[in-house]
Amino acid sequence: MRTGHTAALLGIGALLVGAGARAAPHAPGPCDPRADSLHPAPSRDLYCIELFPSDPDGGAHGTAALEWVPGPFTASVAADGAQQFNLRFALAGLPPLPPGRRAGYVAWAAPPTLMPLQRLGAVREGSTLTGPVGFDRFMVLVSAEPDTLSQTRTGPIVLRGESASNRLRPPDLFQFALGATAPPMPEGHAHHAMRDSLGWSGVPMPPGLTMLAAEMALRPGTPAWLPSAPPGTPDVRPMQLVSLQDGDTLDLTAEVVVRTIGGRSYPMFGFNGQHPGPLLRVGRGSEVTVRFTNRLPLPSTVHWHGLRLDAPFDGVPHLTQEPVEPGATFLYRLRFPDGGIYWYHPHVRDDIQQDLGLYGNILVQPASAAWPKAREAFLLLDDLLLGEEGLVPYGRDTATHAAMGRMGNLLLVNGEPRWRLTARQGERIRLFLTNAAGARTWNLSFSDTTRMELAGGDIGGYAEPVPVDHIVLAPAERQVVDVAFPRPGRYLLINRVRALDHVNGRFFSQVDTLGVVQVYPETRLISTHPIRWRDSALARELAAFVARAPEAEARTLELGVSFAGLPFVAERLMRLDSIYFMPVEWAGTMPGMNWATTAAQARWRLRDLATGRDNHDIHWRFRRGSLLRLTLVGARDVLHAMQHPIHLHGQRFLVLAVGGIPNHHLVWKDTVLVPAGGTVELLVDLANPGPWMLHCHIAEHLGAGMMTTIFVEEE
Ligand code: C2O
Ligand code: CU
Repeated sequence: MRTGHTAALLGIGALLVGAGARAAPHAPGPCDPRADSLHPAPSRDLYCIELFPSDPDGGAHGTAALEWVPGPFTASVAADGAQQFNLRFALAGLPPLPPGRRAGYVAWAAPPTLMPLQRLGAVREGSTLTGPVGFDRFMVLVSAEPDTLSQTRTGPIVLRGESASNRLRPPDLFQFALGATAPPMPEGHAHHAMRDSLGWSGVPMPPGLTMLAAEMALRPGTPAWLPSAPPGTPDVRPMQLVSLQDGDTLDLTAEVVVRTIGGRSYPMFGFNGQHPGPLLRVGRGSEVTVRFTNRLPLPSTVHWHGLRLDAPFDGVPHLTQEPVEPGATFLYRLRFPDGGIYWYHPHVRDDIQQDLGLYGNILVQPASAAWPKAREAFLLLDDLLLGEEGLVPYGRDTATHAAMGRMGNLLLVNGEPRWRLTARQGERIRLFLTNAAGARTWNLSFSDTTRMELAGGDIGGYAEPVPVDHIVLAPAERQVVDVAFPRPGRYLLINRVRALDHVNGRFFSQVDTLGVVQVYPETRLISTHPIRWRDSALARELAAFVARAPEAEARTLELGVSFAGLPFVAERLMRLDSIYFMPVEWAGTMPGMNWATTAAQARWRLRDLATGRDNHDIHWRFRRGSLLRLTLVGARDVLHAMQHPIHLHGQRFLVLAVGGIPNHHLVWKDTVLVPAGGTVELLVDLANPGPWMLHCHIAEHLGAGMMTTIFVEEE
């Protein structure tokens, strides 16, 4: 019996291998047994449901893989924030069917209460793709039905299984007791708002969540730091447009400014006194010089995110230049070989400098030759962490929030808590979205029906528009979306995500309004039809590049973490937490533990699975003009698994596959979100010589070591 079982399972494996090989030589799926270190699969524990027979002697068995739903974003989620998966069933040993002309097997999904039962569709021996499923946690059933078209289940259940998220339970009483018993507090800790000897008071709680007493007593082990504003510090000014011609020079100064948010003033940072920094408009193929002056109290640099420029001007401290000391100047010579929307930010203590407001956009025109005319709006999204006494300080010597990254509790567009735009009914508006937040991934949509088409991504456009009803934007990513509002009225720009209350093992929704579009009636006749466009030259370029995939060298990096010197409580909480990881942690729901963990305790890593080397011990060298097929895999067997927005400097790449599923929404990118325990396969164009940083763009993960350098050499 046991032997037969194993043999039959291997049979399913062989079947999947066959299917995979026919489609494309992509990475394996989560239930696929052929994974190895060069071809890693998404975490079997998180993304493969084992199906168990109702009749233990019947011999039926199988799996249901939670697959990526193909689309323009590597995290599949609905506009309302629910995670989405297609289910791929692999079944064997199914029992005889009941009599009936349309008898067959049907798959169902349901929340743990088994109501409502969602019909996924008919399934059969071997492999069947169904879906999508949008429950936070769910059961999967396969029944033998007299009529496969039936919308309700009448036949017997032959197989059942449950999602990994369904393992979440409120922790048992012992764990609660442990968490509730705070260690004896040293003098000065008794009141939440009192500062300890390093200058820390508490950290704000997200509404609706409880924090265990022991967690609330945690403090970061580095002195607290905030900038100060001497008298005469200028008030911040809004972003200004600067058009630069070929050969122009721009003076760019990083300095302390005073920002007023919700009636309170904070010393923060700005470029040329502005927040966001000036929006630079340049022509594709032009060259400009930026004379950067550092008037911050900290060393700094400027990195030009996404540009395929010359390496000496890439702004990476100790790699391409020495940090620019306070009072000093550095000349950046920028060139712009590709159209698109880019951004710039410092690359020294990003967790402080970017968070305090140092970032701005660059628009390289034409961004796409094929885009229809539209009115342009630029949105840099960010968040700030405010406590009762103002900005929660930063770690002076090392980053705080080194577990999940620093997520703010005040959401900002262009530095304002409420972004505003007016539009005419039916008018085409092109939104250039940039995620300048240190850790937050957004799931954006409008409060009412709009026509939204994705026109571009990190580097330039799509070959044709992609209709969407929401936009996922990971740290450092850009999305270009054309919107038209069909009716007059107010449309809210909202962020809708699912969050996990770890203490109670419960999912909940977070919905935040970022801004409002006021739409005025248009009296002239307006067309409600989308404009079709197509960039045939780009389509050819992308297809030709993908066709070169077989010549690419294949490498794999695993994204993981280890911790050292965590307080007992934090370690226990993380362990409890590791029962299940969401594909994307959209909200910060472990605030105390996360805050108190510094980059001295967390070691985030990129690991070359072929050599076992981590971060800067990886010495990858490639020839200029060669191609790299890079698989990024999120480790599941770590104390904290989460998504990572991985950025490669100075080059561009395409996303070939997500979780082993081929991606057909191609756009040139420089940053990609790798879901927790998931896989993403890239085809990298190594056309630009130099030493180039590859790193996680969550500022605190970068601060905790999650980076390496790729060397692209001339012959
Ligand atoms: Cu915007 Cu090294 O990154
Ligand atoms: Cu990361």
